[in-house]
Amino acid sequence: MLPPASRVPPFDFIVFGGNGDLALRKLLPALYQRDRDEQLPPPCRIFGLARSPLATADYVKRVEAACRAAASDGEFDATVWSRFAARLEYLQVDASDPASYSVLRDALERPDRLLRAFYLATVPDLFGVICRHAHAAGLIAASDRVVLEKPLGHDLASSAAINDEVGGIFSEDRTFRIDHYLGKEAVQNLMALRFANRIFERLWNADEIDHVQITVAERLGVEGRGAYYEGAGALRDMVQNHMLQVLCLIAMEPPLKFDAQAVRDEKLKVLQALCPIGAEQVRKLTVRGQYAAGTVDGKAVPAYADEIGTRDGTDTETFVAIRAEVGNWRWAGVPFYLRTGKRMPTRVSEITVQFRDVPHLIFDQQAGASAANRLVIRLQPDEGIQLFAMTKIPGPGGMRLRRAPLNLSFAEEFRTRSPEAYERLLMDVVRGNPTLFMRRDEVEAAWRWIEPIMDGWRASGEPPRTYAAGTWGPSASATLIARDGRAWTEDAG
Ligand code: BG6
Repeated sequence: MLPPASRVPPFDFIVFGGNGDLALRKLLPALYQRDRDEQLPPPCRIFGLARSPLATADYVKRVEAACRAAASDGEFDATVWSRFAARLEYLQVDASDPASYSVLRDALERPDRLLRAFYLATVPDLFGVICRHAHAAGLIAASDRVVLEKPLGHDLASSAAINDEVGGIFSEDRTFRIDHYLGKEAVQNLMALRFANRIFERLWNADEIDHVQITVAERLGVEGRGAYYEGAGALRDMVQNHMLQVLCLIAMEPPLKFDAQAVRDEKLKVLQALCPIGAEQVRKLTVRGQYAAGTVDGKAVPAYADEIGTRDGTDTETFVAIRAEVGNWRWAGVPFYLRTGKRMPTRVSEITVQFRDVPHLIFDQQAGASAANRLVIRLQPDEGIQLFAMTKIPGPGGMRLRRAPLNLSFAEEFRTRSPEAYERLLMDVVRGNPTLFMRRDEVEAAWRWIEPIMDGWRASGEPPRTYAAGTWGPSASATLIARDGRAWTEDAG
């Protein structure tokens, strides 16, 4: 049951970068869906801001196309759409020009001032600038919020500088640093799995768990985001935020309660416990790759360098694998293998928790080799949980064993639409609940771990290894895990 709309205060939602890819593909469709679920109180308005001239009527057409494209079959509702469209306004604002903010001030003016949520879907260099100019224009009241899209800077120093600048205007409890992975249903379910069930906790440690794998594989390439991606690469784009956040949820201690401080305190401790990977270890513990031309889904696709249109070659990685360790009492010695890449054979985000083998096998050889238990948490697509257990193959022929899954599919069990991550998170912003957002110290702790890896790569002078699009990354990725006598889930059978 959704909480009643009355719990969501009426608000004005102001999107800088309102005509960009993120706003059109994710943010506005998410707000449309919330309107469809009667979650937007009647006075709510939504302002899309960008530099180019555009009439609101044309903007509304673009947003409609985006909402139709995002809605799965039958979900688009014309009545809701006309209500939603009436909330939209496009404003031509140059975020870096203080004079431009008068346009926004005039548009926001109304007798009953609403709560304002400023969503900064721009390059991070503008985050501080926008906050300063909006503040100087008198647009920010004590209860207003700001939402910062990732990436928050490109290293620890730039991230701290942004946080300082934004923090000069918005206090920490009004700063929402978004990591949309935390809004995914299946990621939230990880917390339910661990902390609303008793059976796993006693097994959740180095005594029982052999290793953990976290894979976020995408079929897509960089899709017109080359300019951004060139400055980021997979390590900054996926590992520094999404993958480390998922790792935190797997590795954290039970928080005292499910609230913003307690949950984030425990995640922070995990980030602080990550064993540093220094320059001398990057060759052994990390692999970076870049896709060459290949075939994905039966279709030929170009190499990364061709996709972004560079002739001079580029050293940006589109694939990373890392053997990480959490150096604390619970996890010492348990490898966490992280892997993410673009142009992989399939789109899948999945966590595999591999338990240790049985201490002694009572069955004879004809039963077959034993295979250790494995818990697979599928974040997307087909969200669900599988617990692989050894079972007897039915029928005559004696005791023959095979590992088979106990299956929980969220779609089949709950038969309800799984909301997009941004739907939940945007409503949390206006409700003022930062539990699923990153606190400043978390972001900075993540950079502290990531930065030596970037430095090590730079110092080595080695370019990323190539892999053919449509494969699971460079062969060095299989070697990374094979060195420990293990294999990635798809190879392990
Ligand atoms: C974004 C990255 O944060 O996450 C993209 O910038 C990536 O490069 C995307 O494609 C993946 O998100 P999802 O929800 O499709 O797994």
